[in-house]
Amino acid sequence: MQIGKRGFLSIALIANLLLFSGCGDSHQNDDYGITDVNKIALTVDNHPHGYGRSQCFTCHLPDNIHQENRVNSFLVDTARDLVKTEGTNRCYACHGTNGL
Ligand code: HEC
Ligand code: HEC
Repeated sequence: MQIGKRGFLSIALIANLLLFSGCGDSHQNDDYGITDVNKIALTVDNHPHGYGRSQCFTCHLPDNIHQENRVNSFLVDTARDLVKTEGTNRCYACHGTNGL
C-alpha cells in the first residue's frame, strides 16, 4: 500500500497533535508570569485574547491552571479546590468579571 503525500501529512499531523496537545501523562502548567496576587483581576490589557469570554475552559484546561504557587498565597490552593467543585462558576471571585 502506498501512503502518498496526503497520508504522510495526516500521520505527521497526528504525531504533532500527540506531542503538543498535552494529552496523556504530560501536561503543561499555564504560566503567564503572574507574580503578584493583587494583580490577578482580568482586564482588557492583561487578557486581550480572553476578555469578555465566559468559557474559560476552552482555553485554560483545569488540569493546567493553579498548579504552581508563584504568588505565595493560600488562594492558589483555594482556587484548585474551587475549580474542582464549582467549575467556572467562581473564577470571578478572584479574577473579576472578565468584562461579563
Ligand atoms: C479564547 C481563549 C481564552 C478564553 C476563553 C479565556 N482566556 Fe484567559 N487567557 C487567554 C490567553 C491567550 C491569555 C494570555 C494573555 C492574553 O494573551 O490574553 C490568558 C490569560 C489569563 C490569565 C492570566 C492574566 C494575567 O494576569 O497575566 C488569567 C488569570 C485568565 N486568563 C483567566 C481566564 C478566565 C477566568 C477566563 C473565563 C472567565 C478566561 N481566562 C477565558 C486565553 C483565554
Ligand atoms: C480562590 C481564588 C481563585 C479562583 C476561584 C480562581 N483563580 Fe485562577 N488564579 C488564582 C491565583 C492566586 C493565581 C496565580 C497563581 C500563580 O501563578 O501563582 C491564578 C492564576 C490563574 C491563571 C494563570 C495560570 C497560573 O496557573 O498561574 C489562569 C489561567 C487562571 N487562574 C484561570 C482561572 C479560571 C479559569 C478559574 C475558574 C475556573 C480560576 N482561575 C479561579 C486564584 C484563583
